[in-house]
Amino acid sequence: MIVLRPLDSGRSQADIAAMRLPDSFLDDLRNRLSLSHVVGRKVTWDMKKTNQAKGDWWAPCPFHQEKSASFHVDDQKGFYYCFGCQAKGNVFGFVQETENVGFMEAVEILAGEAGMPMPAKDPKAAQKADLRTRLAEVTEEAVKWFRLQLETQAATDARAYLERRGLNRTTLDRFEIGFAPDASDLLMNALTDKGIPFDLIEGAGLAVPAEDGNAARDRFIHRIIFPIRDPRGRCIGFGGRAMNPNAKAKYLNSPETVLFDKGANLYNLGPARTAAGKGQSLVVAEGYMDVIALSQAGFEASVAPLGTAVTERQLQMLWRVTPEPLIALDGDVAGQRAGLRVVDLSLPLIEAGQSLRFAILPEGKDPDDLIRDGGPKAMQAVLDEARPMLSLLWHREVVGKSFDSPERRAMLDRDLRAVVRRIKDPSLRRHYGEEIARLRAELFGPVVPRGDGGGLRGNREFVSTKSHAQNRPFTPGKRWQPPAQATTTARTSDLAVGKTSPDTLLEQVILAGLALHPSLIGEFSDLLEAGHWTRDEHLWLAQVLIALEPQIGAEAARITIDERLGHEALEILLAQRHVRISPLTRTDVDGARMCIRDALARLDARRGADRERREAIEDFEDGADEAMTWRLAQAGRLRDNSQRMARSDDLDGADEVGLSTYLQDLLDTKVWEKAKKK
Ligand code: UTP
Ligand code: MN
Repeated sequence: MIVLRPLDSGRSQADIAAMRLPDSFLDDLRNRLSLSHVVGRKVTWDMKKTNQAKGDWWAPCPFHQEKSASFHVDDQKGFYYCFGCQAKGNVFGFVQETENVGFMEAVEILAGEAGMPMPAKDPKAAQKADLRTRLAEVTEEAVKWFRLQLETQAATDARAYLERRGLNRTTLDRFEIGFAPDASDLLMNALTDKGIPFDLIEGAGLAVPAEDGNAARDRFIHRIIFPIRDPRGRCIGFGGRAMNPNAKAKYLNSPETVLFDKGANLYNLGPARTAAGKGQSLVVAEGYMDVIALSQAGFEASVAPLGTAVTERQLQMLWRVTPEPLIALDGDVAGQRAGLRVVDLSLPLIEAGQSLRFAILPEGKDPDDLIRDGGPKAMQAVLDEARPMLSLLWHREVVGKSFDSPERRAMLDRDLRAVVRRIKDPSLRRHYGEEIARLRAELFGPVVPRGDGGGLRGNREFVSTKSHAQNRPFTPGKRWQPPAQATTTARTSDLAVGKTSPDTLLEQVILAGLALHPSLIGEFSDLLEAGHWTRDEHLWLAQVLIALEPQIGAEAARITIDERLGHEALEILLAQRHVRISPLTRTDVDGARMCIRDALARLDARRGADRERREAIEDFEDGADEAMTWRLAQAGRLRDNSQRMARSDDLDGADEVGLSTYLQDLLDTKVWEKAKKK
């Protein structure tokens, strides 16, 4: 008998298939089988660790390479779990994975073993499963054919191209890279010659049917071919990179087919899962070439989505492999946006042990570029620096914005609350709330929520403790920098590691100077309160500096900074090369004041010039002329000014040593002038 139940969206593929079998049948089958018996054919039990009486079985995992026994079978519950690679499932899943079969086939195998006849099949489901099997045969033939083409005369350029891109023979074989020649029907003909009907070739996404007077043709023409396999090893589709730089699409992917569900698969997931099981970090890159370059460089646990944005289902697949996958992002605006899209998607899904980290690459580079330029080391460095999700969120909400009015601060609170509310997991929501409250406190001074003393939560309002000594109120109107565009847009380059911008260098000199000579803080409090910094860390340090007791000594200041921001904060700042070798660390308070003033003047000049130029460009886009001429002249003047101040060293190249030398020169000149006056 066939039992049909309504489709329930929360169900997996296997469950949906199972609906076509009566529950009673599956229960019977499960009861007649012991999981340890089925598993026992594939593993060698570790009898020391195993407790047969309790139905607790242990063995080295059949799904990943290991010597120790981390694979556990619970006969009572009928579940297996590997503590090494997180593989888990029931008896049907085990047979699916080890025999490389679908759910129905697994049931059939097990029913055969248990001597239970299968109930009559649902003809539609059977048909679909059958169609998948046949399509997979077609794609398999295509993989072989594409690979053969890469060896032909016609693929000379393609081979040269792949070599230029640094792919070695092993990698080409391992990823089964192939070639679709520059002709319209070669694959179609080759497959038809094997007796494969056109319907199946089209159904596999390999041919485009005749249309509008155009004959049917191959889908992939003159492209490097990347076969895409599901974790069970079936080839479900292809990606093709154009050889011709003028092609309409750089990458063309198979269309959605019965086999190919782009949102529910990831490139290289199978091998990545195995590598992750051996302890490698799971990295999510953007493209096929990134995954391939990463794998070749030793980062074998790499995957990529299939030409579409990351989906919820893909996140769930990633979390089944590891609790905290690393999303590799380009450090440019597009990369940041992509990152935030993933954050938005995952906020409602995260829970303890199910989150993400973000590895931010230097601006304009993907992992493939980075590895080619800097080798695996450069990539490892980026992965080591991966930032938690909250850091990206905070960056989006805060960096580059100014909060100089109660309204603006209220708006920030509202946005932050909205973010936290989207987290469904209550415990995690509380932790995020607390962390955000802490970050916020550093931004504005301490915050006391009304009611019991929780963090940022629900609809509770924030009350800033204005009277508190550590919270000098903001002084609206008094600003270090006019509220130009620069204060309301995040500076994207900050996400990029690598080159440090001149502004960042100048800020570091100023902050280091004030941290070492806290008696100067009062003089520069406007600057500190303006709240505009190129980096979050600068903002935090500025906030701590403002909050210091007015008469505090250098040693006490340092202790307080360490307490508030952790030991590393100041240590890292003072260890920056241009800070370390600058006179700041050696000069007296007057020398420090001079260095700070000068750095500040240059920063102001630079920003003034930048702002004028930006505004001029905007005017230009609006078609204004007179205003623009004036503005450009103004910008030129400001730029000259800042260059004059920079004397011969232009900091645009982020010349860290140049900055120190410049500061030393500045002091030397002044010392010399003083001496002359005497
Ligand atoms: P990229 O444009 O970043 O390509 O697209 P890439 O991986 O750096 O490729 P190379 O280095 O130029 O060869 C990233 C991914 O976006 C999808 C593909 O899946 C690609 O791997 N994409 C890109 C498309 O689907 N179509 C396109 O036209 C471009
Ligand atoms: Mn690339």
